Amino acid sequence: MHRRRLLLSDSGHTWAMSEKLSPPNPPLSDGVIAVRPFRADDAPAITAACQDPEIPRWIPIIPVPYTEADARGFILLTLQAWYDGTGYEFAIVDAATDRYVGSIGLHVGPNPRRHAIGYLVSPEARRRGYAVRALRLVTRWGFESLSIERLALWTLPGNIASQAVAEKAGFRFEGLARNWETDRDDLPIDAVMYSMTPDDLADSLAAAAATTATTATATAAARIADVPRELRAPGTRAAPFVEIGRVTDLAPGLMRRVTLAGLDLLVAWTDDGIVVTDDRCPHMAAPLSIGALAGCVVACPLHEGRFDLCTGETVQMPTTGGLDADGNYHRPWSPSGAELRPEPASKKLEARRLTRVNRLRYYPARIRDGRLEAQLPILPE
Ligand code: FES
Repeated sequence: MHRRRLLLSDSGHTWAMSEKLSPPNPPLSDGVIAVRPFRADDAPAITAACQDPEIPRWIPIIPVPYTEADARGFILLTLQAWYDGTGYEFAIVDAATDRYVGSIGLHVGPNPRRHAIGYLVSPEARRRGYAVRALRLVTRWGFESLSIERLALWTLPGNIASQAVAEKAGFRFEGLARNWETDRDDLPIDAVMYSMTPDDLADSLAAAAATTATTATATAAARIADVPRELRAPGTRAAPFVEIGRVTDLAPGLMRRVTLAGLDLLVAWTDDGIVVTDDRCPHMAAPLSIGALAGCVVACPLHEGRFDLCTGETVQMPTTGGLDADGNYHRPWSPSGAELRPEPASKKLEARRLTRVNRLRYYPARIRDGRLEAQLPILPE
């Protein structure tokens, strides 16, 4: 990487200006993602990503509708910016496949020590920590390559996900900058402002190192629970293993919902290991992922039902009563222990009485190179 400092006189101020940088070679990578300059063959993937209405919603300069010609024009602009030294735009790609998963750019400001950074992630690649990883890689490279005293990052006020990314990567919240930007109708809009200084970067690197050590310990401890074979979900026996996340997204005692091709999965790290099942209560389909996990037992957020994620069995029938997995009837009950008054016969009562609480069904899972994979009865993309 080549850097030479120049002097620029502007309106009586003398600023040091950094000469243009060359793309890092080899590309920056943390083993999960890599960032590299855009290539012409990224255009279809950029175009596909920008069909997501959330992207133009939060980034007003993205054209709507977005065409492949827009993507090709954007790629040319980014390459020109590298050539001119006016901006350093990267494609965020999967480190293993080089597949485009997002964009990140370090934008050179008029004052060569005050720059800005922005990013987006394509819809199918979200919730995997890719934006944080890319932000860490590019900010570190930027601080090491340019004499940055302040790196600014702004988002629109409602863009909570982007703000969380900024904070996870070590940016500091500064406040609301009023009328900072203009929307696509050229009207002024506020922005939530973050920044990073060299001291913040040092703090962030130290925190990331501590997290890496903790994560490595957790990953080494991760194992798949030994669940009953007869409780495999239908259609999984010959199904392919599909990546559903990374082990580093989990922790002992944590539950997450993963939605893939219309399936809402519950991934839970129980005392016996990690299980993958449907994120639907076996009683009336409430999402178990927002319940509470203690050991192997998850408490449903509705009706006090409790289910053993390691055996698939019901530990506590719901307050509404009903049929258990073997067809035995259980009366309604009250959490306070109070005797319930008999209800007059009705369709509702009958529906509760006939609702069967079946055993949980599991998606066989495995861990490969830190990836959590499950056999899902769907075809991988
Ligand atoms: S929906 Fe879970 S116990 Fe009723």
